[in-house]
Amino acid sequence: MADYFETDDVTREYDSVLVKRILSYLKPYRRLVFLTMAALVVSTLGELYIPILQQRVIDESILARFLTFNTARYAQDGEALSAHARAAYDELVSGANVLFAGDLAFVPQNRHTLITGSAETELKERGVLEENSWYAFSFTADEPAAQAVQRRADLFLTREYASKTGGTFFTAAIRTDDLYSLPASEITVIRGKDISRIIRGGALFLAALLLIFLFTFSQTWTANKMSQRVMKDMRLELFKKTASQSTAFLSRHPVGRIVTRLTGDVETINEFFTTVLVAFLKDLSVMAGSLITLFILSPKMALAVIVTMPPVAALTLYSRVKARDAFRRQRTASSKVYAYLAERLAGIQVVQLFRGERKSSGEFKERNRELLNANLGEMYVFAVFRPVVEWFSTLTVAVVIVVGSKMVLSLSVSLGVLIAFISLVQMFYAPVTDIAEKYTLLQSAMAGGERVFKLLDTEETIPDTGKIAAAPAVRGHIEFENVRFSYVPGEEVLKGLSFSVKPGEMAAIVGYTGAGKTTIINVLSRLWDIDSGVIKLDGVPVQNIALEELRRAVLPVLQDVFLFSGTVEENISLGLDIPTEEIVAAAQAVCAHDFIMRLPDGYKTMLSEGAANISSGQRQLISFARVIAHNPRVVVLDEATSSVDTETEHLIQMGLQRVLAGRTSIIIAHRLSTIKNADRILALSAGSLAEEGRHDELIAKNGLYAGLYKLQYANGLSGNSP
Ligand SMILES: Nc1ncnc2c1ncn2[C@@H]1O[C@H](COP(=O)(O)OP(=O)(O)O)[C@@H](O)[C@H]1O
Ligand SMILES: [Mg+2]
Repeated sequence: MADYFETDDVTREYDSVLVKRILSYLKPYRRLVFLTMAALVVSTLGELYIPILQQRVIDESILARFLTFNTARYAQDGEALSAHARAAYDELVSGANVLFAGDLAFVPQNRHTLITGSAETELKERGVLEENSWYAFSFTADEPAAQAVQRRADLFLTREYASKTGGTFFTAAIRTDDLYSLPASEITVIRGKDISRIIRGGALFLAALLLIFLFTFSQTWTANKMSQRVMKDMRLELFKKTASQSTAFLSRHPVGRIVTRLTGDVETINEFFTTVLVAFLKDLSVMAGSLITLFILSPKMALAVIVTMPPVAALTLYSRVKARDAFRRQRTASSKVYAYLAERLAGIQVVQLFRGERKSSGEFKERNRELLNANLGEMYVFAVFRPVVEWFSTLTVAVVIVVGSKMVLSLSVSLGVLIAFISLVQMFYAPVTDIAEKYTLLQSAMAGGERVFKLLDTEETIPDTGKIAAAPAVRGHIEFENVRFSYVPGEEVLKGLSFSVKPGEMAAIVGYTGAGKTTIINVLSRLWDIDSGVIKLDGVPVQNIALEELRRAVLPVLQDVFLFSGTVEENISLGLDIPTEEIVAAAQAVCAHDFIMRLPDGYKTMLSEGAANISSGQRQLISFARVIAHNPRVVVLDEATSSVDTETEHLIQMGLQRVLAGRTSIIIAHRLSTIKNADRILALSAGSLAEEGRHDELIAKNGLYAGLYKLQYANGLSGNSP
């Protein structure tokens, strides 16, 4: 039980071979992968679009600032300007969207409208660039703005144009001071176009949000669909694999551990897909996207943002190491707790009977405290890392505000760009804050994947290469020739065992506990394969018989009874299509019918898990009836009636004589009275045959069997006299 849950294998951080193998499970779901990725790209673009939209609305529609050039002055004084300033003027005034009114040219100031400091100073000194701030706009005669301009004709500079469609339109400009001294209602009319643009911006914003919502939803949905299917595939593969493994493999792997493979470890791979892979890709694309957008908006300010990144990167690397160590400690501690719980609770009755509650509580308390400390340790890493990254994010915003405000004042970036920068920096840092948590998940996925694949890669089945279909011809002649077998290499259990049981014979095997009786059944039905020698069924070595055929021909009633949860009938038929009469007949033969009929629903009574609602003797009878109902040629009984009272056993014996007539049977019984009538008694001692013969012969021989027999009956230990 000590290594019920392994603790020592969480060593890998990232293993590309392993990741490739995990990803190979996505192959059947290419469509879902594609949909997830597409949704991810769209939702990321949507998120990046929002700050850009903000910037546009602020710069173009809310602030609506213009660089105002005096064209008359330029015509007059332009010669005196430096080439540099002239180039700036030409480029700006000849651009698109430039409005002209009076002598002035109005260049909308957005993120593309850049003018160097020196050119700006020069143009201002010459009076080419207006110091005053102006607002310019265009309108047609039938727009409300036309009347507003007419009413305040003294405040406006205007110009009339012929439009391409044949009509006319106007441009007008007003000093901002004058504009804002007007009543609010007039301002609204004059700025009507801006207001409708703002409303359109709002609608776009809503549409973008809706788009992000839809695509984030479909990304989450398809990612989960994909990873849930992968999980389903993995569980099935694991189950098939495990179910076909040999008993040798299964005896070395506790059930609890295999169950964790199928559930817990597979679940970590699910997390790998949803939380790590998809979320990580999303984070990366948002981070890369926001960084690129920063550079597009303003390379200079983006550089200021980058300055704060190296410490964050260093911190992330450091916390990764810390998170890994904490994760390992946490895992070790939690598996200690699980292992202890599994063992103590499975044996709780023993703990209670031997008054071990206090001691167990003490032991558990210690492991429990260790787990607490390990969990807190893990949380500590996150608790430190998160706020520090948040602090850096805030610091970066502060840097952006300081640097950006200066640039806004010097007109080298617009206010909209500064505001977009603040949003983008926050977007950039948001994924960093939980990167440590994701890293931990990645690690547990690596560990989980490693263990799942280890189980999948174990090839330890009983080779089923036999071609011979033994069933119809089988008569049931069993021969063991010099059979040697060991469960654990070096500890031989069958040491050159030879015997034979003729068709139709009833043979009995006796011997002390541990002599190897059950082992004979295990190797005969090929739950284990022998090391050397031959076991033949009707003259054919069992290895050459197809496994399914062999097991149809030879069926043992196992010493360890196992019933599944389900009805009594289902437990007897085990899914095979056996008519009810035959089931009842089998139950009658083993004296199970009467007690089954006394159960609340007879043969339809549900047996709870492990069939705890009936006695162990009754469980034994059901498993006995199961073998009889399956009608094998060779029946092997391994202490099949050991938990049944002597009287019932006696009745069963009589019933069996009928059922077993004409079949080969091997009976292992610890009550020797039941085998007195056997055709052949094999007395086993330490893995080899000590004696063989009929009851009377062996008693006369006065050897091992006679000794066993006397021991059992001489002083009347058993209620059943011989
Ligand atoms: N799964 C196993 N792995 C290792 N050793 C085993 C296993 N099953 C039985 N043995 C060993 O094989 C010997 C014979 O066991 P078994 O055939 O069950 O005895 P019995 O005659 O009481 O039925 C015992 O000494 C036991 O320790
Ligand atoms: Mg046994």
